[in-house]
Amino acid sequence: MKNTILVTGGAGYIGSHTCIALHQAGYEIVVYDNLSNSSREAINRVSHLIDQPLTFIEGDIRDAKALRQVFDAHQFFGVIHFAGLKAVGESVAKPLLYYNNNVSGTITLLEVMAEYDVKNLVFSSSATVYGDPETLPIDETAPRSCTNPYGQSKLTVEHILEDLAVSDTSWSLISLRYFNPVGAHPSGQIGEDPNDIPNNLMPYISQVTVGKLEKLSIFGNDYPTVDGTGVRDFIHVTDLAQGHVSALNYLEQLTSSRSPSDMAKSVGFLPINLGTGKGTSVLELVNAFTEVTGRDIPYQFTGRRAGDIASCYASADKAKVLLGWYAKLSVAEMCADTWRWQSMNPNGY
Ligand code: NAD
Ligand code: UD1
Repeated sequence: MKNTILVTGGAGYIGSHTCIALHQAGYEIVVYDNLSNSSREAINRVSHLIDQPLTFIEGDIRDAKALRQVFDAHQFFGVIHFAGLKAVGESVAKPLLYYNNNVSGTITLLEVMAEYDVKNLVFSSSATVYGDPETLPIDETAPRSCTNPYGQSKLTVEHILEDLAVSDTSWSLISLRYFNPVGAHPSGQIGEDPNDIPNNLMPYISQVTVGKLEKLSIFGNDYPTVDGTGVRDFIHVTDLAQGHVSALNYLEQLTSSRSPSDMAKSVGFLPINLGTGKGTSVLELVNAFTEVTGRDIPYQFTGRRAGDIASCYASADKAKVLLGWYAKLSVAEMCADTWRWQSMNPNGY
């Protein structure tokens, strides 16, 4: 039996897939989520897929008292911290909500972790912290800047983690910078379930394909890219989930190392990209989805979306060298698994 991990936001899209990967890797999991952007049904389905009840506690990361009860009841090796709000447009309209939830919530979590001497954290950061990149592919040393409150909240948490690591060298704080997570579990049982009309490309494409939305608007065809449409590094959510297992394995190896020459038991602040290293254009993704599903996807070109950048893809070398992790699944598999989830669950959970 491996260590026990607290998974904040574990009922959400990436968290639910990661719970399965953690279980398969032998970890004990406790999910803590306030269900503000997820449903209990995701927990039920994960329980079904792992063939045992998933330990779930409904609670908010801003509630220190509730968190202490969780830490009193379990001895954690570390925390994977997914809990956060993630809609860029909403963050512009409600910045205080985003800073309160994502920044204050993380501070409260870190304070409780410190009280209980649990100092291993894997944080959900985003490629959005790179802003409009000067060079491609983007490596972890690239300058960081953000233009919206959501991005700022991720960048601010990164700064907090950096300061914390300097203040106390016993912390290991891995910041995983996700590129564009897409896809779903191959069972079709769990996947991304946007509350409203999707903002992101892949769920929009799949909802047009299933007939819930009429037509895809492609935001801009005049970018300096292969076909004029935006280029992104789409990564299958199950590959991403596996990246979290690799990050935890890495921390476990460090802490269990007995070699006298290898004194480092913590990593301080460690940012790592999780991407495939390959760029795919919006049009290429639409064409791949059409090919996989055999269905027509009506689309039109419209103007650029404010705040969008032309191209964004990762250098995935650091994850490979340090964690031994790399993304294995293709764009066709991302489309096939998205489509299985969407067609089996046209109305989500
Ligand atoms: P999601 O909304 O599906 O999952 C987040 C979960 O956190 C939800 O279940 C929600 O109910 C929970 N939550 C939110 N605020 C909470 C709080 N105060 N207390 C307890 N639970 C709370 O989002 P996701 O796509 O799974 O993203 C997970 C994390 O990864 C987020 O932090 C997000 O910002 C980050 N991220 C996501 C993407 C992406 O494209 N999906 C890209 C980069 C980074
Ligand atoms: C967006 C966010 C980013 C966040 C990420 C994951 C913005 C500016 N950026 O990234 O901060 O971390 O989601 O939640 O919102 N597209 C269309 N039509 C659509 C939707 C998207 O053409 O209906 C295009 C976009 O212009 C872009 C590409 O598809 O070129 C990918 O868009 P999206 O899925 O929203 O991701 P990002 O913009 O990369």
